[in-house]
Amino acid sequence: MKAAILISGSGTNLQSFIDTIAQGNLDLDIAVVLSNRPDAYGLTRARDADIQTACIEHGAFEGRVQFDRAVAASLEPFDPDLLILAGFMRILSPWFVTRYEGKVLNIHPALLPRHPGLDTHARALRAGDSHHGSTVHFVTDELDGGPRILAGRIAVNAGETPEQLQERVQAVEHRIYPQAAQLFATGRITYRNGAAWLDGKILADPLIVDY
Ligand code: GRF
Repeated sequence: MKAAILISGSGTNLQSFIDTIAQGNLDLDIAVVLSNRPDAYGLTRARDADIQTACIEHGAFEGRVQFDRAVAASLEPFDPDLLILAGFMRILSPWFVTRYEGKVLNIHPALLPRHPGLDTHARALRAGDSHHGSTVHFVTDELDGGPRILAGRIAVNAGETPEQLQERVQAVEHRIYPQAAQLFATGRITYRNGAAWLDGKILADPLIVDY
């Protein structure tokens, strides 16, 4: 199965995909890494791993759909079966989401449906959440709202800062994102009728791994 990984920044999740594939634990071929920022360090990680890269700068386009069409055109020659959003900081248009329906995964640093959007670690602390974590889900038109697949959960420590929490959540992400992608790559997780399915059964709640 061929994957495209879309990034905007440091690409630690991308690195985790690269490493997991090298270890033989993920049946995916990363066909291309695409960034909307030329200075994203993830592009360097991709080049170091001999993976093809592409950069489409969003500022060069009039609107969201024009940018999304350029992204799709640049992905087309690679014919990806799966798109992995790994810190890709652009909201995708309904056109793009429909174009790749059921083939786009995202990871969000919170236990969805809690804390969609930004600044999730500080928000979890402010809310006094006992647990926090990260969730892999299919991408739909609803921001951070698509069918959930797999969540990694940790207990919040007393007196923890947002930065400390972020660091622990990121370590969880590096484990659960390749695991979720493997479920997709092996055909165990699919998307149908607006829902995630595991082994042919609707997955109403995500799988949860406690760390
Ligand atoms: C991750 O924390 C992910 O949850 C969020 O963006 C961050 C990307 O980090 N969507 P990196 O670029 O993979 O290091």
